Amino acid sequence: MLKTETKLPTIPITEIEQSAFCTTDDELSSRTLDDEFAVGVRWQKLPIEYMRMKPEELDARIFEARARLGEMVVVLGHHYQRDEVIKFADFQGDSFKLSQFAASQENADHIVFCGVHFMAETADILSSPSQKVILPNLTAGCSMADMAQIDDVLDCWDDLEYVLGDNGGATPITYMNSTADIKALCGRNDGIVCTSSNAPATFDWAFGRGSRVLFLPDQHLGRNTGLKMGVDLDDMILWNPFKELGGNTEEDLVNAKVILWQGHCSVHTRFTVEQIEQAREKYPDVNVLVHPECTMEVVEAADYDGSTEYIKAKIADAPPGSVWAVGTEISLVNRLATQHPDKLVFCLDSVICPCSTMYRIHPAYVSWVLDGLNEGVVVNRIEVDEDTASEARVALDRMLSVV
Ligand code: 13P
Ligand code: SF4
Repeated sequence: MLKTETKLPTIPITEIEQSAFCTTDDELSSRTLDDEFAVGVRWQKLPIEYMRMKPEELDARIFEARARLGEMVVVLGHHYQRDEVIKFADFQGDSFKLSQFAASQENADHIVFCGVHFMAETADILSSPSQKVILPNLTAGCSMADMAQIDDVLDCWDDLEYVLGDNGGATPITYMNSTADIKALCGRNDGIVCTSSNAPATFDWAFGRGSRVLFLPDQHLGRNTGLKMGVDLDDMILWNPFKELGGNTEEDLVNAKVILWQGHCSVHTRFTVEQIEQAREKYPDVNVLVHPECTMEVVEAADYDGSTEYIKAKIADAPPGSVWAVGTEISLVNRLATQHPDKLVFCLDSVICPCSTMYRIHPAYVSWVLDGLNEGVVVNRIEVDEDTASEARVALDRMLSVV
């Protein structure tokens, strides 16, 4: 019997909050947490003294707490973190680099992950059992990851097995931006995890094992990667978790080469072909560089696409005087513009919208968790249960071996 059924769609709260910090002003400096709460966001509450501390006070306090902790703690920061947070990171990177890094940190007792929930979960899975991973604000999730709920994915997998036979007739690939449960499903079903750095290599890996891929949860990264690997657009179908059989017929599933979960990133789907055309009109020599979470049309209209680490390296290596219109999260774009004053670097979208969940790591949270560690208290530990972790580790280890 089929497990999936048609039901009413739900929109993750993280996606509803996405516009809360959008502005046309170029100014994204942190304010007190109290002030930031005033726009009506629902972030983790923390002691009132931290809520009221001014950014300069927090800065000095974090600096001191960090110095006292020395090598017992390592702070990791994803490129999308605010400047006021990333400056305290011992290591910065994209999802792939940070997961490699978390796997190699043997000396630190604590890993403070300035990023989002799925990244901290991955760090916990890949680090040693004695190490504790901390996410400064527990509500820092990812709206894309929220679009693939494990129960819906399990129902999808059961239906694929029902229609296509054992092992779902497909190799499951999940983007790093997914929960540990989904990584575990990939681990136990001969699947793999990918990041935006190695998605093509994981498709190669999967097609070396079978003729069909189930790609979760970002339809755009999946479609863009499929096209790069020579899969025909007509051979890729969408799985809508709110519809029976994902909105497909059994024949559609049998004929598909890639089944794309219907998830997306609310930051990267803001970029449009019109924005690219406007940038080309204004700057005829412009280089358009976007993240592969953007839509297929945007990636096709751009000159280059790649992970945040790729974007960073591409601009660093560019000649002075070159012009770069970038389609990714604004904290990274602004930082690249500041770091490369000899090049013109700007965001494709004139409305400045940070990733609302990355933005939830306000310096007050970093101060709070570091002060806790200095007092011997671990707050906001992220811990994945060992059964899930061991299956997820299988899929992550496959990812780390496929570069
Ligand atoms: P990368 O840093 O791996 O490119 O991923 C971008 C992203 O959206 C992380 O959530
Ligand atoms: Fe998730 Fe998009 Fe934010 Fe990345 S940028 S954490 S995919 S919502």
